[in-house]
Amino acid sequence: MTILDGKKVSADVKAQVAEETKKLAAEGIVPTLAVILVGDDPASRVYVDNKKKACELVGFRSLEFKLPAETKQEELMALVDELNNRDDVNGILCQLPLPAGLDENAVIEAISPLKDVDAFHKQNVGRIMIGDYDFLPCTPAGIMELLHAYDIEVEGKNCVVIGRSNIVGKPMAMLMLHENATVTICHSRTKNIRDIAAAADILVVAIGRAKHVKSDMVREGAVVIDVGMDRDENGKLCGDVDFEAVKDKCSYITPVPGGVGPMTIAMLMKNTLKAAKLQNNL
Ligand code: GUN
Repeated sequence: MTILDGKKVSADVKAQVAEETKKLAAEGIVPTLAVILVGDDPASRVYVDNKKKACELVGFRSLEFKLPAETKQEELMALVDELNNRDDVNGILCQLPLPAGLDENAVIEAISPLKDVDAFHKQNVGRIMIGDYDFLPCTPAGIMELLHAYDIEVEGKNCVVIGRSNIVGKPMAMLMLHENATVTICHSRTKNIRDIAAAADILVVAIGRAKHVKSDMVREGAVVIDVGMDRDENGKLCGDVDFEAVKDKCSYITPVPGGVGPMTIAMLMKNTLKAAKLQNNL
């Protein structure tokens, strides 16, 4: 069993981004990411801080726009509009989830597709479907990068994705399909999830339930990718997969923390660099 080391691979990706950023600096370009954080969700606070830290590490500028939970939709939309129009902002990210009462879809669609470094805008989603895109959503892209780093073939493999969110499950299935996998998407209404998962060569789990996947859902020799960020009964960070219970069955497995999470942030850096280059006609 090999642990897929997201910390190491993400550091390699960020080192590449940092090198390219240095070259851009010589031309007077500093990629800039604007991060919007609404309300006081502690997990969101941590994610935003990690994104800002990564920006600093690779040589980007990051701008934080912290708004109170009571912010009105119009105020949030006005901020997005202002950032869309600022030439010194290359990427815009609004941390989700938003507090109750705010319309996430409206915000996602208001962000300029050219600055949409999350790749959540429907124009970017549509381009991914066709396979003609500038930005890929960070979590699925990070997972593909991790598989590539370990030379794990996807072509012809039986890939199973558990979870059908717009952010992870659906684009994940699409990216594996682009690499010629046979893909099954499972969700809460799927019958026989256990049997489908247990037949997977590559199993991607994004359901948000602590240690939900046990060894009966994992085929001997499978590659297991855990997108979960949960807390176990002791409040300790864990994934959707019961790591200890399945690890000896896997050929490869991602740990939580240190697997998919760091890859997601590295891909955000890649997207922001790309946005800056495109906006400067490079
Ligand atoms: N919340 C959880 N994951 C994400 C993400 O990838 N981007 C944003 N903006 N918010 C999130």
